Amino acid sequence: MLVLGIESSCDECSIALVADGKEILSQVIATQIEIHRRFSGVVPEIASRTHTEWILPVYRRALAESAVTPADIDGIAVTSRPGLSGSLIVGLSFAKGLAASLDKPFVATDHILAHLYAPRLVQEIEYPFIGLLVSGGHTLICRMDGIDELTVLGTTIDDACGEAFDKIAKYFGFGYPGGVVIDRLARKGDSRAAKFPDPTLHKGEHRYDVSYSGLKTAVINQLDQFWNEGFEKTPENIAASFERAAVDMLVRRLLLAVDDTGIHTVVAGGGVAANSYLRQALNKRTDLDVRFPPAELCTDNAAMVAGLGYHYLSSGVRSDWAANVSARVSRFRRPYP
Ligand code: KG4
Ligand code: ZN
Repeated sequence: MLVLGIESSCDECSIALVADGKEILSQVIATQIEIHRRFSGVVPEIASRTHTEWILPVYRRALAESAVTPADIDGIAVTSRPGLSGSLIVGLSFAKGLAASLDKPFVATDHILAHLYAPRLVQEIEYPFIGLLVSGGHTLICRMDGIDELTVLGTTIDDACGEAFDKIAKYFGFGYPGGVVIDRLARKGDSRAAKFPDPTLHKGEHRYDVSYSGLKTAVINQLDQFWNEGFEKTPENIAASFERAAVDMLVRRLLLAVDDTGIHTVVAGGGVAANSYLRQALNKRTDLDVRFPPAELCTDNAAMVAGLGYHYLSSGVRSDWAANVSARVSRFRRPYP
């Protein structure tokens, strides 16, 4: 079954053609990084307008690169939640138009579930597993018992993990996009230069939850307090020390979840899953079976949407023509039904 996937939830305009939920025939990812660079962050209004300009050429190129004709497409999968509303609307409307004109079914899918599906495009993974989704908008430690059977274990109580990378990079003027730049700087720095505290969360919060606002304040406003003598305050050392604190915090919670559930397979996803230090920290653990998608499938991409969509479409699930977008998904918050 050939599924065309559409991803436009943030600033990547992507369309992919995927056979049977795993074979990527083509994928085009048009990133708006250059457009948003001068604002040091994604501007929602500009993102949606750019999707409107780009989506048809992206579609045409995805077809051309795969030598697939529109008539070969069996169904369409599109991200409809969560994300920037205006951006999501462009993708969803395009999906509906295409489905109507080709007389093919379409299914609106969840971006978080798509990220957690991404590694399955390149390898077999058995359920259950512990999912670690870390991106610019989400930070989630969860238990997965099927493609859409997600139980939230931990989440952030304030900023998302990738958002912390982006904010630190913006404050220090390291460059854009923040996560990528900090990763690159940190490789040349010494992570022992500063020792930031692991936040102690208060009542009502869960033992797998993380918090990034305290770390952000410590790095931005209290750097002297946590800086160790003998280290120069270079961008490289700041990046490395921050990165270590941000990632170690996640890894500690993740290991608690592994111990408590007895599930040793960990599947990572989202932009921060491309981070070298996180990969290194998890890959060196011999007690875990860690699956990372290749870097290009960590950040937003349509192949993961088509892959996930295949499982719905092939079992007869279709979305209604009145399907709409939603910016947030409350069901990923606890309590989870
Ligand atoms: O999954 P994604 O492309 O979009 C969202 O759904 O948010 O993730 C983007 C996020 C950004 O915050 C970016 O700074 C971060 O992922 N990111 C990284 C790296 N590459 C991207 N963070 C740390 N290290 C990286 N190598
Ligand atoms: Zn994403």
